[in-house]
Amino acid sequence: MEELVALCKRRGFIFQSAEIYGGLQGVYDFGPLGVELKNNLKSAWWKSMVYENDNIEGLDASILTNSLVLDYSGHTDTFTDPMVDCKSCGLRFRADQVPNSCNQEDLTEPRHFNLMFKTNVGPVNDGSSYAYLRPETAQQIFTNFKNIVDSTSSTLPFGIAQIGKAFRNEITPRNFIFRVREFEQMELEYFVAPGDDEDAHNSWVQKRLNWWVKQGVPMNKIEIYEVPTDELAHYSKRTVDLMYNFPHGLEELEGVANRTDFDLGSHSKKQNELNLHAKVKLNKDSNSKLSINNTDNGMVVPFVIEPSAGVERGMLAVLNEAYTIEDLPDNKSRIVLKLKSHLAPIKAAIVPLKKNDEKLVDLAKKIKSQLQNLGLGRIIFENTGNIGKSYRKHDEIGTPLCITVDFETLENNTVTVRDRDSMQQERVDIKEIDSFFEEKIK
Ligand code: GAP
Repeated sequence: MEELVALCKRRGFIFQSAEIYGGLQGVYDFGPLGVELKNNLKSAWWKSMVYENDNIEGLDASILTNSLVLDYSGHTDTFTDPMVDCKSCGLRFRADQVPNSCNQEDLTEPRHFNLMFKTNVGPVNDGSSYAYLRPETAQQIFTNFKNIVDSTSSTLPFGIAQIGKAFRNEITPRNFIFRVREFEQMELEYFVAPGDDEDAHNSWVQKRLNWWVKQGVPMNKIEIYEVPTDELAHYSKRTVDLMYNFPHGLEELEGVANRTDFDLGSHSKKQNELNLHAKVKLNKDSNSKLSINNTDNGMVVPFVIEPSAGVERGMLAVLNEAYTIEDLPDNKSRIVLKLKSHLAPIKAAIVPLKKNDEKLVDLAKKIKSQLQNLGLGRIIFENTGNIGKSYRKHDEIGTPLCITVDFETLENNTVTVRDRDSMQQERVDIKEIDSFFEEKIK
């Protein structure tokens, strides 16, 4: 983990937030390469959900959340972690995360601590006009259910996908970006007819495993964990966690839950007319009945299958898998980030062999903008004039290709293309460079 954290800082992936003021615990900033990697991971997820499935629609809902949403979802009452104080060191811990250095007899009895961030809305701060920063992206998917059904004419089964920030006042944020207070989730709420939920659940577990493999996290590094009944969240009939062997240990990368009709039922008016399976709190505030016409059995409240993944945990997993130290001849070694090319922050670096040589520089810039226009991600022009240094840097940040414009280029219109993983170099005709690049990057 230390090596990965050091690389992330050194190369501009991830920084501690507000570092110049001593930081803010559990909050990170994503630098020039981090933001690219993050966007690439999110766009791979969005593509696999929204673009590749005609029955899945996207949503980008607000972060500030009406407190009623979180009252009826159960978060106000139950979104808590048990917290203890250590009377010896004076620190506070999540009850299951007390360090070995604290003695059991020094700990207070656990008490409930709500993880939601509450904030004032509007100019008057008398305690009555508050909202929450959403603790999960899911809830506004449920509150927008009717809007989306009405505006898209969706029929069962269908899904609503959302990527966005979530906030949790974790008692003990830790392990770099694994457990943080501000993070992003990629969540799908997939609505199915009651009775079709169990098959849909199994199918989504498999689809999500396959997706992680495509991002460079091998199947044999992910363990399936059936969450025991007594550990299930209040809304869940069954939850399967995809556990990944992070540098600090085996922990949850993504959860796939069967939320039954709990959420739509909870946010609905006239609940007694809905034949709900879940036990829900009586809703006196909603103005909408969240059911849908299902051809087989009339109006139903669908069951929900929810694959929910953390973007930061995903980044940590793909970075960890990609991070490689390779031995080279002459007792040398190199660090190489073997990211899948669709995730690589920079797809290619175009390097003139000699810094500031007008002809080489002009041609390199032309190739840069030509490849950039293919729209496959960021291409950079790099005028360092030090090819060896460029190769080392681009190995470390995972750039799949380095393209050198040298004096031979001026004679025969070919460039040297170096492959990150094999370190093999080949000469490619500039006329062929677009298709060569597309082939390698796609
Ligand atoms: N809507 C369901 C839900 O939010 P969750 O298991 O609490 O379920 C889903 O969170 C995913 O969000 C987790 O699998 C994890 O990847 C990510 N996540 C949750 N809390 C996090 C935190 N404090 N820091 C980073 N990622 C977190």
